[in-house]
Amino acid sequence: MKKIMALVLAATMALSMAACGSKGGKSAKSDDAVAAIKKAGKITMVTNAEFRPFEYKDGNKVIGIDADLAQAVADDLGVKLEITDIAFDSCIPALKAGKADFCMAGMSVTEDRKKNADFTNTYFNASQVILVKKGNTDISKPKDLDGKVVGVQQGTTGDTYCTNEDGKNDISVKEVKRYQKFVDAVSDLIAGRIDAVVLDDYPAKQFLKDNEGKIEKVSDNLTTEEYAAAVPKGSNLAGEINKVIKKLSDSGEMNQIIDKYTSDSAQ
Ligand code: ARG
Repeated sequence: MKKIMALVLAATMALSMAACGSKGGKSAKSDDAVAAIKKAGKITMVTNAEFRPFEYKDGNKVIGIDADLAQAVADDLGVKLEITDIAFDSCIPALKAGKADFCMAGMSVTEDRKKNADFTNTYFNASQVILVKKGNTDISKPKDLDGKVVGVQQGTTGDTYCTNEDGKNDISVKEVKRYQKFVDAVSDLIAGRIDAVVLDDYPAKQFLKDNEGKIEKVSDNLTTEEYAAAVPKGSNLAGEINKVIKKLSDSGEMNQIIDKYTSDSAQ
């Protein structure tokens, strides 16, 4: 009996040591990501370019804070950057399917997403806020969303918050209307088809600027979140991106990039 126990123990130890080894960045798979990118001369990113100032379209080109950060990663690796614009809730599935090297989409780190992708260090703090039609007297605090029709972008943390599936938040909306693009939610808000839109603070600021006098923001925030890049599980590209995030933060370039897209004069 003792002998069997010892054998089982030895086998378990061997297994767990093997597991540790593959997590240490030395496995073939994690070494491959950066090497494969360099070999291909190109790095591929997925995003959803409906999220100004982080990513939006200028003609056919995706520009914004995330696009500049991604370009810095590509430059650091000495490769070309290719950005593909897809639905926000397709970004992590695309990583899982091996269709892209990474995703930057003003994406907040969540426990749920961590099950399907790895995240880099964070580069921006954000929160969910509420937009209402100007002069709305019904909604002046988060709890007022109870019984209301709320627009969100499908698959975002705003969607999770309002859907409140796990009952963690103290709200119970009447209906969550899910859009592919925030801009359509904001049009419906202005047209009076929905009562509120829940979205991230910086994109909200942009919509307020674009629709002056038509919409306003409720003062209390709903959440605090942090943005990071996502990579396929086990990809050693995360370390490379972390290095670039640190370099840009230390040199002050990170703030310059953010200012470029958020200052009052940003177009
Ligand atoms: N930060 C929110 C989230 O992670 C919204 C991100 C939406 N990003 C976009 N590019 N559309 O769920």
